[in-house]
Amino acid sequence: MAVTLSSGFKMPLVGFGVWRVEGKDMKDLVINAIKIGYRHFDCAADYKNETEVGEALAVGAFQSGLVKREDLFITTKLWNSDHGHCSNYDIFLTRDCLAYSKVKPAVNQIETHPYFQRDSLVKFCLKHGVSITAHTPLGGAAANTEWFGSVSCLDDPVLKGLAAKYKRTVAQIVLRWGIQRNTVVIPKTSNLKRLEENFQVFDFELTKEDMDQIKSLDRKHRTNTPGKFWGIDLYA
Ligand SMILES: NC(=O)c1ccc[n+]([C@@H]2O[C@H](COP(=O)([O-])OP(=O)(O)OC[C@H]3O[C@@H](n4cnc5c(N)ncnc54)[C@H](OP(=O)(O)O)[C@@H]3O)[C@@H](O)[C@H]2O)c1
Repeated sequence: MAVTLSSGFKMPLVGFGVWRVEGKDMKDLVINAIKIGYRHFDCAADYKNETEVGEALAVGAFQSGLVKREDLFITTKLWNSDHGHCSNYDIFLTRDCLAYSKVKPAVNQIETHPYFQRDSLVKFCLKHGVSITAHTPLGGAAANTEWFGSVSCLDDPVLKGLAAKYKRTVAQIVLRWGIQRNTVVIPKTSNLKRLEENFQVFDFELTKEDMDQIKSLDRKHRTNTPGKFWGIDLYA
């Protein structure tokens, strides 16, 4: 399952985000991700593990015939990119980029999850042909609570109730909600069982009432706040 970008490329709806995946765990996780069905990998030089992703793909996946390079969608991040992807652009930056850049952005990768829905930005981008990749789609869960003191939507009582109703995990409800609002999700996990769980989101559908209920949970709560270490809001 994939979304077709304005550039013509197809971006799979569920990707594996590899920030904070340790290099030593990468080969096992990447190969298992491909076996599970992941075809989208979200990387960055800043994550300091791109070499390990490359090695896992080259040796573990391409040479062994597990998958072909052309079947994968792989992103990286550059400071100045004119290649159709941007990251953490608000409405004003996206509008400027659409107006002035040589290559129109095909994707804006932003933090969004039930506690930080950013509906106006998502709608603005989709209306103008800019697809949305939801980074931190689980709200960073335990990792962002530990790193940034944020509140995790995975502990939300309403979401727990929906998980019980659909006989799914809260993470699956949150990722399914992300897909149903037409965003692509790139959850990170270093846990093999969760890697599988996070991909099992295509065989059920949330009703409109339940989508609306999740909509009411928005707290405008950004969970990825590295600037807190320096006492500034990097994305203000
Ligand atoms: N462009 C940007 O500025 C930017 C910023 C942040 C992130 N990103 C991208 O987005 C990806 C995802 O963001 P993220 O890692 O910060 O946040 P996330 O995917 O929302 O959450 C990751 C956390 O959730 C836990 N988790 C994963 N699956 C789970 C499940 N099924 N049940 C319970 N807990 C689960 C993980 O723990 P375990 O590993 O222990 O399972 C980890 O603590 C990153 O890897 C990166 O590729 C981009």
